[in-house]
Amino acid sequence: MIINLIEKNIKKTNSDLEIVIVDSIKNLKEKEILENLSFEAKDESVVLLAESKKIFVGCEADDYDSLAIAIATAVKKFASTKFQSAKVLVEKENIKALTQGAILGSYKFDKYKSEKKKEKTKELNFCLEKVTKSIKKAFDESLEIANAVNRTRDMVNSTPEDFYPEVMANKAKDIAKESNLECVIHGEKYLEKNGMNAMLNVGRASRHESKLIHLSYKPKNAKKKVVLVGKGLTYDSGGLSLKPGDFMVTMKSDKSGGCAVLGMMSVVSKLELPIEVHGIVGAVENMIGGDAYKPDDVLKAKNGTTIEVRNTDAEGRLVLADCLCYAQDEIKDIDYIFDYATLTGACVVGVGQFTSGIMGNNNSLANEIVQNAQNAGEYATALHFNRFLKKTIKSEIADICNIASTRYGGSITAGIFLEKFISKENKDKWIHHDIAGPAYVEKPWGYNPFGGSGAGVRMTLEFLKNIK
Ligand code: BES
Ligand code: ZN
Ligand code: ZN
Repeated sequence: MIINLIEKNIKKTNSDLEIVIVDSIKNLKEKEILENLSFEAKDESVVLLAESKKIFVGCEADDYDSLAIAIATAVKKFASTKFQSAKVLVEKENIKALTQGAILGSYKFDKYKSEKKKEKTKELNFCLEKVTKSIKKAFDESLEIANAVNRTRDMVNSTPEDFYPEVMANKAKDIAKESNLECVIHGEKYLEKNGMNAMLNVGRASRHESKLIHLSYKPKNAKKKVVLVGKGLTYDSGGLSLKPGDFMVTMKSDKSGGCAVLGMMSVVSKLELPIEVHGIVGAVENMIGGDAYKPDDVLKAKNGTTIEVRNTDAEGRLVLADCLCYAQDEIKDIDYIFDYATLTGACVVGVGQFTSGIMGNNNSLANEIVQNAQNAGEYATALHFNRFLKKTIKSEIADICNIASTRYGGSITAGIFLEKFISKENKDKWIHHDIAGPAYVEKPWGYNPFGGSGAGVRMTLEFLKNIK
């Protein structure tokens, strides 16, 4: 779908259909017929009146979610018709929510369907009384960001057979070429030579070589330096601590953090952010086999910390541990270091499948992230560390253990594990995003269709845009 920004009275704009976003049906001239059709000014309520060529869609409130859900619902209805164009009246405050809702809501993934629907591209006309420079800019940015989310979704939705570490590295190369970024890919020899044994061991039983991906965007006017690190488990079988069959399904999505980082890197230069941004992804497949790493192994990470493995399914933190060390060894004077990972089932249990868990030592930075998530249309909540949970990752034989001694607070103890790999000077600059809940959608919600959601992308780009 193409969205056009049009500076014209909506009545004078030619389109096959009009979308009417309704917060109250009280004053509509179609009130009676809409009531008879059980239409309500509520989420996902939608009616097409073919004679008057109007789609009425409910909108519960004047906020991002309600507007994005409304336009996504309307666009789906529009897509189900033979009409080619639709127009909608837009107020300037709603540009972001409507643009992103339309793009995110009309996302389709048919790579694995033998019959692909061939449809002519439809047009959606956003009509405004006046299109100022700042409105145009907000529109362009919203579009770029939503496209980056959809690009992330495409990667997440690809199967493990099609999307293994080398493929992920090639995607990174494509993105680098497109956006003029620096791109360095390291293989297992590098991991071995540089003491990245935690990451190296997770991928040992896989027939695919692990890859460490490093993209960088270095604009001349850079005022700050931000590092984004992603968990890129292209498949997580659990390893020898094998997942039960029905928990293994969807684990192609264990690369969502890494895909989000690649999605963000694909747009930083288009947004012309005056920030140096690094994207680092640990692309690894966690498998079983005679050469698999084992519970009882002790692994030495890049910073010298020894880790007792008690569960090979707690592999994401091992990969991230080395990637975080690599990031801090390679990049100096970091202002922010953020990681993204589908790290724990506990996070989903704790905060629900719609919300990301935000962790770190710096509570005010965590709160800032939560606020930016809200402004960007994502759900996030801060989860705080404490001294008692910190004691639960002690090991009798190594420095730390890759699982906690308590079964409670699993997302926080995973965050505490990662903190062991953050150097002193970066302690307050680091934030961990556990996106295990929202990253993959099994039951569509809001404007998110089935599959990868692109969690993390919008909230972080919002934060980056707001860096002073
Ligand atoms: N990738 C999983 C976490 C996950 C679970 C993501 C469900 C999305 C949905 C991770 O590697 C994992 O298996 N974690 C274990 C940790 C445990 C062994 C301490 C978990 O959450 O059960
Ligand atoms: Zn796992
Ligand atoms: Zn995992």
